[in-house]
Amino acid sequence: MTVVGILGGTGPAGRGVAVRLAAGGHRIILGSRDPERAGTAAGALAQVVGDFVRGASNAEAAHADIVVIATPWESTMVTVRGLRESLAGKIVISMVNALAKDGPELVPLTLPRGSATAHVAAALPASRVVGAFHHLPAAQMEDLASGLESDVLVVGDDAAARRAVVELVYTAPGLRPVEVGGLALAGAVEAFTAVCITVNIRHRAHAAVRLTGLE
Ligand SMILES: NC(=O)c1ccc[n+]([C@@H]2O[C@H](COP(=O)([O-])OP(=O)(O)OC[C@H]3O[C@@H](n4cnc5c(N)ncnc54)[C@H](OP(=O)(O)O)[C@@H]3O)[C@@H](O)[C@H]2O)c1
Repeated sequence: MTVVGILGGTGPAGRGVAVRLAAGGHRIILGSRDPERAGTAAGALAQVVGDFVRGASNAEAAHADIVVIATPWESTMVTVRGLRESLAGKIVISMVNALAKDGPELVPLTLPRGSATAHVAAALPASRVVGAFHHLPAAQMEDLASGLESDVLVVGDDAAARRAVVELVYTAPGLRPVEVGGLALAGAVEAFTAVCITVNIRHRAHAAVRLTGLE
């Protein structure tokens, strides 16, 4: 059992990850700028996963064993910089996508460091930063009966941290971890989220990523 903190955990992405990991037997601290809002969100999730999830401030969530960043890109840097000391030495998972709307489509933003994960890694030099969970449709994640069967592509330069995240994802129902490789690939992984969302808008679908040919 791992204690997982989620920064910005009150949004759809954080709630979805919380449900899947709680269903895998982990304890979740759902973080928020407003602990009361987190408590309300955690209370709603308790109907699905019991008392495995509780609400707290982002600062408290940052004290968990593993911390997931589930904030919008625009607020990610300010959020992680404020928690740098608590996050030192820890595995920090970024699921952040930097995307913009372009008419009916989503397009990836071009970031100076190539990916949001790389920016998080640069802002948290003492943390073990890994990218994962980027492509998952949040509503299907939160609904354990949705039939979601999706791959989770795991990227980052710290191979041991990457493998720890793979082990964590293995425990989550409906998710198959795929260890990809180094941080240089994070931009490609994140940018593909724009493809996934645009496909889902166009086809009114809930498609997720599943690689073929893997054992
Ligand atoms: N939605 C998806 O299907 C999905 C799937 C995979 C990855 N992602 C990625 O996951 C991240 C979160 O997605 P989301 O859809 O859950 O986003 P969201 O609902 O817009 O935001 C998530 C949470 O972030 C916090 N937040 C919002 N603005 C903030 C600010 N200015 N400063 C600090 N915290 C702020 C809020 O929590 P509090 O107000 O409680 O603090 C909010 O509930 C994004 O980077 C997205 O690209 C999303």
